[in-house]
Amino acid sequence: MKIKVSKLKHHPRNQDIYTLSSIEDLSESISQVGLLQPLIINQNFEIISGNRRFVSIKKLGWKEVEIEQRTITEKEVEFLLIHYNKQRVKTFREFLNEYQVLKRYYEIGQGKRTDLTFVSPNKGLNGRDKVSEQIGISSSQLGRLLFIYKHQPNHIDLLDKGILTVNQSYLQASREVKESDSRKETKNNNSKPIPNTWRFYQKSSDNMSELNDGEIQTIYTSPPYWNKRLYSENGGIGNEKTSEEFVNNLSNHFNDCWRVLNNKGSFFLNMGDTFYNGNLQNIPHRVVLKLQEKGWILRNTIIWSKTNPKPSSSKSNLTPSYEFIFHLTKTTDYDYYRTLTPLNEKTKPSLPPRHRSTNGKYSDTVSPYLPNIKGKNMGDYWNEDIVRTSVANQKLEIDGEHPAPFPEQIVTLPILQTSREGETILDPFCGSGTVGRVCENLNRSFVGYDLIKFV
Ligand SMILES: C[S@@+](CC[C@H](N)C(=O)[O-])C[C@H]1O[C@@H](n2cnc3c(N)ncnc32)[C@H](O)[C@@H]1O
Repeated sequence: MKIKVSKLKHHPRNQDIYTLSSIEDLSESISQVGLLQPLIINQNFEIISGNRRFVSIKKLGWKEVEIEQRTITEKEVEFLLIHYNKQRVKTFREFLNEYQVLKRYYEIGQGKRTDLTFVSPNKGLNGRDKVSEQIGISSSQLGRLLFIYKHQPNHIDLLDKGILTVNQSYLQASREVKESDSRKETKNNNSKPIPNTWRFYQKSSDNMSELNDGEIQTIYTSPPYWNKRLYSENGGIGNEKTSEEFVNNLSNHFNDCWRVLNNKGSFFLNMGDTFYNGNLQNIPHRVVLKLQEKGWILRNTIIWSKTNPKPSSSKSNLTPSYEFIFHLTKTTDYDYYRTLTPLNEKTKPSLPPRHRSTNGKYSDTVSPYLPNIKGKNMGDYWNEDIVRTSVANQKLEIDGEHPAPFPEQIVTLPILQTSREGETILDPFCGSGTVGRVCENLNRSFVGYDLIKFV
């Protein structure tokens, strides 16, 4: 039967579930071949099947349209709206809306709607399987979509725009859930007050007989520079006549660090270089080469770019403005809690052009790099800004507190990356105790050695 288009209206529940945009292709096909099936309307002239076709024919200026009118109870409306959309290419948002509607009917133990003749009994299926059967998506795909919606709701729009595939989004969401669970677990395990102690020994650290084997989780130290300052005549490192002697002495000095460091532990060695007769000695790398010969594994050479380097009046070379922080370990299976640096605007995902294949579906070939929204893995070039924001990021993640001011942050980061609260940190050349102060802040125990008592 034919009816005036002006008498018809959308069913209000349709708009809650479906969008009525992107109907250009549909309008085009209706203008060429007409309507292949009548619109289905209820007794109130509300459209149950054909809401998108209704938009198209209004756009095309149709005055009359073929309809089939049925008496439909309120109970049946939602089911029918979804039922008639089963074959259509839908957005992920629409699948989720359909799920929200149907899950109420299919919750375990309810089974209220089996009276509806168009709903197949789906014997033996669980609630989610029944819903996925109704809306025309596999149960596992629906499961992934629900997981993404729960943990990364902002991804749903990215999926619909073709920026992300369900797989990419699911992997990212799972990774983040795992990371956050492991953080919570550690926090819960540590809910008792954690004892943190401070010990200082005024003696040379080449023999730390006070410490047990493997007692230390992280070592962070800045040994004396060679040939710069006389710390002590007696056992003082740095007073050697040649740089060779210094390199040998210092690398042997660290033998006892190997003994006291846990196999899961880390050793951060911060060093600057020295000129001799105008010739830069390459001391940091020479020390590290010796340490590698002794079995230490070099995991990173971090450049610490100084904000206010010591000025130099030289007219023939540049002002030295950075130091090295070497990250060394005893094995490759060491404890590590990675640091994320916040993203800047440029690294946030942008929208590539939409790709549609000939069947009208969005193409899955678009595979952009989607950065973790919380930040990216920190690089090995550190300056004050990078360190400040990264420390804030990692520390806020852990306990919501703001960290200590620079330059203690340069020490804070390695300690956060390689130890947990309550574990013990060693500085074998502790000087005024910067590392110890950071440990107090971070709730770690501290052991310091120095020939001179500053602390
Ligand atoms: C560059 S300073 C360390 C500065 C320290 N990071 C701070 O926060 O003040 C090097 C320190 O190593 C100490 N030192 C030199 N030889 C030593 C040795 N054999 N054992 C222990 N400490 C030593 C010096 O007394 C000096 O305090």
